[in-house]
Amino acid sequence: MPNTKVLRGAVVGYGFISGKGHIPAYLERARTVGDVEIVAIADICAARREEAQRALPKARIYPDHETLLAAEKGKLDFIDISTPPCDHAKIAHAAFDQGLHVLCEKPLATTLEDARSMLEHARAAERTLFPCHNYKHAPVVRTIREIIDSGAIGKVRSITLNTYRNTHAKGVTEWNTNWRRMNQYSGGGIAMDHGSHTFYLTFDWMGAYPTAVTAKMSNLEPEKYDTEDNFNAVLTFPNGLASAHLTWTAGVRKVIYTVQGEKGAITVDDDDLQLAVMERTSGPDVAQGAVRWKVEKRSIASDWMDASHVSWFNSLFSQFREAAQNRVFVGKEALESYRCIELIMQAYRSARENCREMPLQGPPAGY
Ligand SMILES: NC(=O)c1ccc[n+]([C@@H]2O[C@H](COP(=O)([O-])OP(=O)(O)OC[C@H]3O[C@@H](n4cnc5c(N)ncnc54)[C@H](O)[C@@H]3O)[C@@H](O)[C@H]2O)c1
Repeated sequence: MPNTKVLRGAVVGYGFISGKGHIPAYLERARTVGDVEIVAIADICAARREEAQRALPKARIYPDHETLLAAEKGKLDFIDISTPPCDHAKIAHAAFDQGLHVLCEKPLATTLEDARSMLEHARAAERTLFPCHNYKHAPVVRTIREIIDSGAIGKVRSITLNTYRNTHAKGVTEWNTNWRRMNQYSGGGIAMDHGSHTFYLTFDWMGAYPTAVTAKMSNLEPEKYDTEDNFNAVLTFPNGLASAHLTWTAGVRKVIYTVQGEKGAITVDDDDLQLAVMERTSGPDVAQGAVRWKVEKRSIASDWMDASHVSWFNSLFSQFREAAQNRVFVGKEALESYRCIELIMQAYRSARENCREMPLQGPPAGY
């Protein structure tokens, strides 16, 4: 498609992420760049359809994706899937059948079979499948990438990613606010919900893909819910280990990430980033070794408290647009979204089998 073309999109699911994140970002982009227009929205909940019509008075509103796709045939370039994960695959298949590109919220799917079929369908239909891996677009996360690229901390050897939440993320109240705690909608708890963000960041920072995972999880409210609220995993990479700690029962909302390299380290606590770089000293090589650390502290506003992450969406959409334009149907991001699903599935298996280490194979042959 030409660079200047206005992409006509439809959003399926007008809930929290699309109402507070995607749609405001599309409207801003339509106003400033002018290369996208949301012309239709589908939501199965009548109250949400009314909200959608208020937000986008000119958009055509439908009660489900089938009706939308039938009525909008020939009038769309892409579908933005913003429903709970249980329906991502079926909506993506219907969109590919109609020759549309697909921007899909994470997690890509709730089973590995569905994830695989989505890759295959994108390739066969020659349409782009692109996941919303938006944490890569957080300013402080971009800075981590820049520091690793600069060589300041040398080769990365281990990382830790801690995500603290005082509750499970809630959906809009008009539909089913606790769907993340109900396996039939979510396919899993915090690992399914937040695991993708954690795992694609490990791929990026380790500069490699993991070969195995071992995991443990718990559910502190089994009488109410059937998904986990705490999840810990260790990922084995060819060049080191990554440790993930995800909790919905924390006393605070924040992320704490550390990236340990052979010459230094990065520590991130929400917006606060500390870079420590080793300097050799001429002192005796005892205890911690003959080094001292040059420490630099920065604050990089990244809007962590805004769960819609609206400010991270525009550059993500640019990547999706570019992939579609360059006919990259199943690119790196899509393959990484598949790897995330494999990791989540194998981590669940590990947790069920007393933390047995489970192998990871990566995308099917041919990708
Ligand atoms: N990338 C991020 O940072 C981020 C943040 C929040 C949510 N998400 C993802 O966005 C998706 C939606 O989450 P949310 O928090 O917005 O949930 P939500 O409950 O607030 O919204 C879901 C909406 O989808 C509608 N819906 C449900 N099933 C549907 C279907 N089959 N067809 C059409 N509409 C349907 C509901 O009526 C509701 O309005 C999930 O995949 C979630 O993981 C991503």
